[in-house]
Amino acid sequence: MAANIPQTMRAIALSKYCKPNEYAVATLPTPSISNPDELLIKVHAASVNPAGQNDGGKDSFPYKLGYDLAGTVVAVGTSVTNFSPGDEVYSRVPGHLRGSIAQYALSTSSTTALKPKTLSFGEAASMPLAAQTALQSLYRGEAETEGGLRGKTVFIPGALSGTGSFGVQLAKNVFGARVVSTVSSGKVGSVGTLLGKGTPDLVVDYTKDDVVKEIGKGSVDFMFDTVGQTFKSLPLMKKGASIVSISTLPSGKLIREMQPGVPLWLKVMLDVVNWVIELWTGWSGVRYSYLHLVGNTADLEKLAKWVDEGKVKPIVGESVGLEDIEGIRKGCMRIFEGKGGVGKFVIDIA
Ligand SMILES: NC(=O)c1ccc[n+]([C@@H]2O[C@H](COP(=O)([O-])OP(=O)(O)OC[C@H]3O[C@@H](n4cnc5c(N)ncnc54)[C@H](OP(=O)(O)O)[C@@H]3O)[C@@H](O)[C@H]2O)c1
Repeated sequence: MAANIPQTMRAIALSKYCKPNEYAVATLPTPSISNPDELLIKVHAASVNPAGQNDGGKDSFPYKLGYDLAGTVVAVGTSVTNFSPGDEVYSRVPGHLRGSIAQYALSTSSTTALKPKTLSFGEAASMPLAAQTALQSLYRGEAETEGGLRGKTVFIPGALSGTGSFGVQLAKNVFGARVVSTVSSGKVGSVGTLLGKGTPDLVVDYTKDDVVKEIGKGSVDFMFDTVGQTFKSLPLMKKGASIVSISTLPSGKLIREMQPGVPLWLKVMLDVVNWVIELWTGWSGVRYSYLHLVGNTADLEKLAKWVDEGKVKPIVGESVGLEDIEGIRKGCMRIFEGKGGVGKFVIDIA
């Protein structure tokens, strides 16, 4: 380990699977590079996503948390040519390197990019996982919609959620779609202020109003389902439209690719559920698929460019420091419960 990198660091680490209200900060060995494509990053900020703890039963403890970070590269593996120590970067770290809510973390050169120049580290850390998920879902929607998404009606529930806030801005300002969205009552007034006037084109209070009536039956060309509302939204969809969901269940085949140790019974069950959803949506003339994001440098570079051009801005609802464990528990609990948050929850490390 280089002389200026400490042997130990502070990190959010669990001693057992638990809910966020039991999270703790621990002192752990600073990770070191063990593969040629890895980067060791001094983390300035990390952000939190709803992705749960892996319950495959095969994890080792202490279990480090966090997939998103922004920071400064302090060391690079022998095959890394696109980054050097001192580079300011942002990354969605691959699953096997999970642990971004820490003073130091590893990522790979193919899942990292230079941080958008116009953003703080906290804002940059809020982006990788949620923004790439939204972008990859919209790419799929663009490919599945005849003539692409420009001028088409795109429905993205949760205009102020992590994934929804990026989805709405990308769909409108990059893909050129007419965007309709939903939020709960307390957030209706903040949408235009946070995302920009007219983004989305229509926002509906899903807790009070009739979403199908407000948006219009059979009016949507593409839905990016951020909240598991695929079935409820079928009346909104045109015949031949498509839905890409990130919040229903992955197929068994996909889950086995992500977690090879998943038992066969679970794979079969998930494949059956997936088949039923495809069949059901197919009866309505709608093409359905689940998407799991794949972090990559190219998408992060595109997102950084759009941010620096003013087309996309991250919404950071709240930031707390790494040692503010009560603040971290509260913020992570809100994400765990899936209600009430605005934009992304960021943990300042530096
Ligand atoms: N497959 C993948 O690769 C992938 C990647 C990222 C995320 N995800 C999943 O996608 C989901 C969303 O992630 P996220 O980061 O956007 O979560 P998040 O930032 O925690 O947002 C959740 C928000 O959704 C809103 N919401 C809940 N029910 C709603 C409804 N029926 N209509 C409209 N809004 C509703 C809530 O706002 P209110 O308080 O206004 O209700 C809440 O603040 C999670 O289930 C996550 O696990 C999957």
